[in-house]
Amino acid sequence: MNEVLPGLATASAIRPYSFTLSSRDRAALKAQRPRCLWLTGLSGAGKSTLANTLEVHLHEFGLHTFLLDGDNLRSGLCRDLGMDDAGRRENIRRMAEVARLMVDAGLIVIVAAISPFRAERDAARQLFAEGDFIEVHVSTSLTVCERRDPKGLYQAVRQGRIQHFTGIDSPYEAPLAAECRIDTETVEPSEACQRLAAFLLKK
Ligand code: ADX
Repeated sequence: MNEVLPGLATASAIRPYSFTLSSRDRAALKAQRPRCLWLTGLSGAGKSTLANTLEVHLHEFGLHTFLLDGDNLRSGLCRDLGMDDAGRRENIRRMAEVARLMVDAGLIVIVAAISPFRAERDAARQLFAEGDFIEVHVSTSLTVCERRDPKGLYQAVRQGRIQHFTGIDSPYEAPLAAECRIDTETVEPSEACQRLAAFLLKK
């Protein structure tokens, strides 16, 4: 009888196939080293702006890239997820798995997401080979993020219209050993972009 197996039983019956071509083979055609650069920080810290500037810069350099942005993925792949801790954990898990697939495809992937929890960022790192995951803490302070308030969300939080907001009533666990730290209040966008590009242009 063809009965539908529950998730766990199904998972134990899965046998991943080992394909001939590797990430390195695919990347060799593109003459680049695929990697994942992961930007974490508070809402309004400048992650998306920095990711966008960096991607344009790399593209002009002739590199093959993709950008995974928290807000954008939450409009599609992750639109079923909330902002509670479990929703955020699953959001990061999915972004990390998609980034890994794209790195396998030979691309340089930039992720921009609050990704507030250390454990999920560390789990994301484990998906990549040594040196292929670059964690960047966009460390702009809460005071500056709230002053900028580009989407009016901090104002909505202060008016009690949004709950569980990162940095206010939901935790942000800053990285302990990120490869790079950038405060967009004190570092010029062009300098920040150059610093990050240097990680990705290294062979
Ligand atoms: S994450 O915590 O799961 O990594 P993600 O980066 O995907 O978050 O999405 C964050 C974006 O969702 C913010 O930039 C903001 O526009 C929006 N947002 C909506 N509600 C919240 C909230 N409670 N906390 C933080 N960001 C929120």
